[in-house]
Amino acid sequence: MGDAALRPIGLFDSGVGGLTVLRELRRQLPNESTLYLGDEARMPYGPREPAEVLGFTREAMRWFSGRDCKLVVIACNTATSVALEAVREESAVPVIGVIRPGAAAALTATARRAIGVLATVLTVRSGAYIRALRDLDPLVDVAQQACPRLVTLVEEGRANSAQAEDAVREYVEPLLTEGGVVRPVVDTLLLGCTHYPLLRPIIEKVAGRDVRVVDSAATTALAVREVLASHRMVREEGRAEHHVFCTGAVERFRGVASAIFQEDPPDVEETRLQT
Ligand code: DGL
Repeated sequence: MGDAALRPIGLFDSGVGGLTVLRELRRQLPNESTLYLGDEARMPYGPREPAEVLGFTREAMRWFSGRDCKLVVIACNTATSVALEAVREESAVPVIGVIRPGAAAALTATARRAIGVLATVLTVRSGAYIRALRDLDPLVDVAQQACPRLVTLVEEGRANSAQAEDAVREYVEPLLTEGGVVRPVVDTLLLGCTHYPLLRPIIEKVAGRDVRVVDSAATTALAVREVLASHRMVREEGRAEHHVFCTGAVERFRGVASAIFQEDPPDVEETRLQT
């Protein structure tokens, strides 16, 4: 284990959603220190234009490079879908997104090769999931559904509310109705936004027992493990430290984070991204 192994892993999301990826990363790589950055002040990213989200992601990458991270996870599908390729080119450290790992998880789960992708408006517009899924299986049927209300419901701490269930019904039911090739009846729902695992109980209830619901957290953590292992950068021992930063609304962020991890609110430091 070289010195590089001791450096932290960075994780970036527009808000609290990437914490679902952090939780899995901590489980799979318990010795790794992490720095989490949520751009709470400018969330949601989903309704924004690609150039704007690319700009925000570049700012986040500069923030991480000033803190000596050994690898950065873009734990946000929206940012991954429009910025991963560009920031990977520009970055001195490996950058991992959540879309390809999410596609891999869905393809492992689907028996009938028919997948429904729930995602933000910008992720759907980008077509990134269709490309990632078809790269891995050119014959797979994919139906996408933009879910613009879900991120705000999660960020407002209303993931278990009646409004959340209404919204999930509105978005999920069309993917389950018969409709032929263009709109297949899917057997797998891919949560293509890192906020959506926080709505998993409601999504599973609406989808019913015959539909599998998968997300990208476990496969993203696995991708990180593989990259670190193949470059001898896994931290094998020592006490991990975890720091969480956000760009505004610290108290709201702490409240939602505490509900996600079902533990006391984490310490969250406020930071700035604009340069
Ligand atoms: N958690 C994010 C994603 O995975 C972003 C949600 C948003 O800011 O709209 O897409």
